[in-house]
Amino acid sequence: MTYPYQIKTLQQYHGAYKLSEENPEAFWASIADHFIWHKKWDKVLDWNFTEPKVEWFKGGQLNITENCIDRHLATRGEEPALIWEPNNPEERTRVITYNRLHKRVCQVAQMLTNLGVKKGDRVCIYMGMVPELTYAILGCARIGAVHSVIFGGFSAQSIADRLEDAKAEYIITCDGAYRGNKDIPLKSVIDDALIGNKLVKKVIVYTRTRTPISMIKGRDLWWEDEMEHAEQQVEKEGKVSFPAMPMEAEDPLFILYTSGSTGKPKGVVHTVAGYMVWTTYTFVNVFQYQPGQVHFCTADIGWITGHSYIVYGPLSAGGTSLMFEGIPTWPDAGRFWDIIDKHKVAILYTAPTAIRSLMGFGLDYVKDKDLSSLKVLGSVGEPINEEAWQWYFKNIGKERCPIVDTWWQTETGGIMISNLAGVTPHKPVYATLPLPGVHPILVDENGNEITGNSVSGNLCIKHPWPGIIRTTYGDHERCRTNYFSTYPNLYFTGDGCRRDEEGNYRITGRVDDVLNVSGHRIGTAEVENAINMHSGVVESAVVGYPHDIKGQGIYAYVIYEGSHHEENLTRQDILQTVSRIIGPIAKPDKIQFVTGLPKTRSGKIMRRILRKIAEGETGNIGDISTLLDPNVVEEIINGVI
Ligand code: PRX
Repeated sequence: MTYPYQIKTLQQYHGAYKLSEENPEAFWASIADHFIWHKKWDKVLDWNFTEPKVEWFKGGQLNITENCIDRHLATRGEEPALIWEPNNPEERTRVITYNRLHKRVCQVAQMLTNLGVKKGDRVCIYMGMVPELTYAILGCARIGAVHSVIFGGFSAQSIADRLEDAKAEYIITCDGAYRGNKDIPLKSVIDDALIGNKLVKKVIVYTRTRTPISMIKGRDLWWEDEMEHAEQQVEKEGKVSFPAMPMEAEDPLFILYTSGSTGKPKGVVHTVAGYMVWTTYTFVNVFQYQPGQVHFCTADIGWITGHSYIVYGPLSAGGTSLMFEGIPTWPDAGRFWDIIDKHKVAILYTAPTAIRSLMGFGLDYVKDKDLSSLKVLGSVGEPINEEAWQWYFKNIGKERCPIVDTWWQTETGGIMISNLAGVTPHKPVYATLPLPGVHPILVDENGNEITGNSVSGNLCIKHPWPGIIRTTYGDHERCRTNYFSTYPNLYFTGDGCRRDEEGNYRITGRVDDVLNVSGHRIGTAEVENAINMHSGVVESAVVGYPHDIKGQGIYAYVIYEGSHHEENLTRQDILQTVSRIIGPIAKPDKIQFVTGLPKTRSGKIMRRILRKIAEGETGNIGDISTLLDPNVVEEIINGVI
């Protein structure tokens, strides 16, 4: 497989960018031509950001799994599509060829059909990082069911909320998942999530950890049994097949929940054709992928990075994607480097938080590992600091691998601003330049465009790209108010950004009430709601503060009036509550008990002040004269933990 749309030189990048600005429709049509369509589109793009409505390749029909699997069978059937590295290095690696992937995905499609799943039905997937997770995702896509993958670290309550919001009727899960030296009891979490749920008809359980679980008659089924039955149906006379459902270009492909600054997480919806074109185009260009290379994205498939750069992007490009079940520090902090050595990884795509954490273990874990197969390093999920960038460049890439610092979001479907490895220059801590089709602009608080270079502002995008969010599931108005109403006719990212003297972009972090903890997005309102559920808590306010490893830590100010107020015990109890309501990833790093919160006379919490205190900038609090009770600030400063 070659990629006619792969940009090879800086000049070609500028040419492609110019074309994408001058004639986006012609530009994207020429790229979309390189995919398999049942029927070509009638119109490349129809859009307005007021509703918002964005339709790419309308009238076109296709199935993304034919693009990710079937089209590679003739030429790459026996090449590895997935390499699976287990949590325990002593367990056997699994190599899944395109032929094998095809067979398994057809089986899942058949199994789901047998169970009554139809096009448009929502299937929730809550599994560990096993190849069956990829089969499940693609099996859904093959029959047009809408998958909604939930990260294994979310609690029963979070799952229950998502199931309800998505009105999901089917679940695919595992008995448990291995992560380092822990077993996560996934099925039992699902059982808790299903208490009171009346919509879910079937729960399919894949056996991974052999943790004892309870199976509910009529509802719960074993993956192995159902797949075996399906195998006989899809295999006839030595041929495997299950027809891929022709999908409209704008049919939904998946829902993925993500946190915003208000309320419960929202279900970001991506549609088939635009997402496919965008993830493939960005994968091939940003990483400069060459067929045969092993691409190792360390994200969990429960997040957008895993969807786009473990599953859809690499497979659509006919690539080899490495899926790792475990964590970077188990059995020791050399695990990533062992995997690179063992599988001759060419591209490593990871998060700054992982780099910072591994840096802390020193170079002993790196020194005897052969990392010479590496060609490209990637960073994603949060701003990378200079120290981590240099460490990564020097010690992992040995100063010969470009680092792509890729800025994007769940809502953007794929990478938006990044250098193209070895083609456009990298610059430490800068995401650098927008991809063709991406038109960033910076605006001030009032929405006025900030032009020129060496400026900072709020980052917006002014023209749709194929991977843009289409709606928030079940609530289009929420999509409009969240992303398209702050600044008219612009998509607002929620990020602050600097443009340097050469026009390179550097994302400085969220400007809304969204935290980025170890690259995980968490809304302050969500954490506050969880804390407030704890009996005895009157009110709370949550802010972020700089954290050496996690990027941002969670700082909670809590007014507690419950009985038996033994501070440390109460802290533990509150952490438990947050774990139960959201999941362990949202547990505050610091809890400070206070008797009041700084509020304006209209009752609004002044987070700006709380942020300064959490950041240790108590000498620089600013004007507090408009507060209802300015004395409270002094008291909070004195009580800082
Ligand atoms: O603040 C930005 C940060 O992560 C946010 C998006 O989070 P999520 O939807 O979970 O997607 C993460 C993976 C794509 C953004 O609004 N972010 C992501 N990548 C970068 C980044 N911040 C700085 N530099 C990046 N490369």
